[in-house]
Amino acid sequence: MVRQQMESRDIHDPRVRAAMRKVPRHKFVPRALQSVAYADCALPIEQGQTISQPYIVALMTQLGLPGPKDRALDVGTGSGYQAAILAELVEKVYSIEILRPLAESASERLEKLGYRNVQVRCGDSYRGWSEQAPFDVILVAAAPDHIPPPLIDQLAPNGRLVIPVGTSRQELLVVEKGATGKAHRRKVVPVAFVPMTGEAPRTKGPK
Ligand SMILES: C[S@@+](CC[C@H](N)C(=O)[O-])C[C@H]1O[C@@H](n2cnc3c(N)ncnc32)[C@H](O)[C@@H]1O
Repeated sequence: MVRQQMESRDIHDPRVRAAMRKVPRHKFVPRALQSVAYADCALPIEQGQTISQPYIVALMTQLGLPGPKDRALDVGTGSGYQAAILAELVEKVYSIEILRPLAESASERLEKLGYRNVQVRCGDSYRGWSEQAPFDVILVAAAPDHIPPPLIDQLAPNGRLVIPVGTSRQELLVVEKGATGKAHRRKVVPVAFVPMTGEAPRTKGPK
C-alpha cells in the first residue's frame, strides 16, 4: 500500500510512511471487508460512516506536520484508524466522535491494539475539546460548510488545522496559526468527506 499509493504520489515524510506501514488497517474495517482493507479507496464502516482512503489519511497527517512532543485533536473518530496513525507520531491524541456506538467501538479497538496515548470522547466536535486545548495538530474528517471558529481558537501558536470545507464541492484546507496567533489558510485539493453533523449545519460561519 505504501509503495503503490504513497511513494508514487506526494507522501514523502518518512515518519508518516512508517506509521502507514505499521498500523494494521485491516483491524479497523468490518470483517467482511478485511480482504480489501488496503485498497486505494474509502470503505464503509458501521453506522453508515466511512474509513477514509489511505492516501487521504497519509496526506492529512503529512499536512499536519505531527511532531513527537505534539498534542493532537482528531475530529470524527470513526473506526479509530486516523487516531492510531497520529498516535504513532505524537505524544497524545484526543479524538471526538458524535455517534456513540462508533466512539465506543473505536475506543475498545484502540485499547486492544495497545494505543495508550489516545483518548476517545463521544460528542460534537464543532466546539473542539476546550479542556484539553491547545493542540499543535487538528485533523478533521467530516466536512462543515465553514471552519468552526473554536477549532482555530484551540490551535496552539504555530499549530496546524487540516479540514475539508464545503457542501457539494469540498476543498481540503490547511490553517496555520503563526507564533503571534494570526491564522493563515490555504487550499490543498478537492475532497469528498461525509458532512459534519451536530451544531455545524445549524450555525452560520463567520463572514
Ligand atoms: C470519514 S468518517 C471518519 C473516519 C475516521 N477518521 C477513521 O479513521 O475511520 C467521519 C466521522 O465523523 C463523524 N462526525 C460527523 N460529524 C461530527 C461531529 N460534529 N463531531 C464529531 N464527529 C462527527 C462521523 O460520525 C464519522 O464517524
